[in-house]
Amino acid sequence: MPTDLSGRSALVTGAARGIGLAVAADLAANGARVALVDADGPALTASAGELAGRTGAANVLPVLADVTSASEVQGAVAAAVSAFGGLDILVNNAGICPLTPFEAIDEAEWDRVLAVNLKGAFLFCQAALPALRRSRSGRIVNVSSVSGQMGGVLVGAHYAASKAGLIALTKSLARLVAGDGITVNCVTPATTATDLTAAWSPELQDRVRAQIPLGRFAGAGEIAAAVCFLAGDGASFITGATLDVNGGLLMR
Ligand SMILES: NC(=O)c1ccc[n+]([C@@H]2O[C@H](COP(=O)([O-])OP(=O)(O)OC[C@H]3O[C@@H](n4cnc5c(N)ncnc54)[C@H](O)[C@@H]3O)[C@@H](O)[C@H]2O)c1
Repeated sequence: MPTDLSGRSALVTGAARGIGLAVAADLAANGARVALVDADGPALTASAGELAGRTGAANVLPVLADVTSASEVQGAVAAAVSAFGGLDILVNNAGICPLTPFEAIDEAEWDRVLAVNLKGAFLFCQAALPALRRSRSGRIVNVSSVSGQMGGVLVGAHYAASKAGLIALTKSLARLVAGDGITVNCVTPATTATDLTAAWSPELQDRVRAQIPLGRFAGAGEIAAAVCFLAGDGASFITGATLDVNGGLLMR
């Protein structure tokens, strides 16, 4: 079912590249106006400029912000609401994924991973709720990971813990805001071909690929398609759900 998002406005974090950029492009292709939030200024400017060239400058808003900063998060939401006249869709996608072995994870790295991957989503959900309540079709989609369901084998334990936390945040908030007509869901991708995984050694990539029944990594567009579905009217009765996009790695 095609997803018509005409007249909707969206904010996507970690949107300068990878899954976030694919989500932003997909939302825009379906008619939404999109704020792209990222902490990497040069990549954000390039990606937002390219997307604006394809979909129209009025439909794309680049916002430089670190998702771990409450004041920057509030500023990002305010910028999107001001530019678009409201906010209907929030996609919490920004994340980092160190592969550090458990006994080598220090306190600072643990705190940083939890701050970007979990606190950032909490801050954006809280900041966006007033605008999402004013929307007649408020949607939150969190980008978790299959490691949040299975535990991290090759990725770090802090990463897996943060992604499990994101699933619990999704369910908690889904209950709390259902009465406002806002749905809250998450997607749990398996390994996806982005800059994040391109940095892995060829041996590690082969080991991970061999575990996936479909025999390959996901494309970023395949994750974006699931996010767009959850953001659209076709998913209007789905909330608190975890949508597996994992090539069969975890069947439950
Ligand atoms: N690639 C995979 O295999 C995979 C699998 C499962 C889940 N995920 C999740 O999908 C999401 C996107 O992954 P990706 O592969 O596209 O990653 P990526 O590294 O290609 O892109 C992540 C983006 O997030 C931005 N970002 C990082 N920290 C930020 C911060 N503090 N504030 C604002 N922006 C910040 C980066 O600048 C970057 O543009 C992440 O949450 C990741 O955990 C990825």
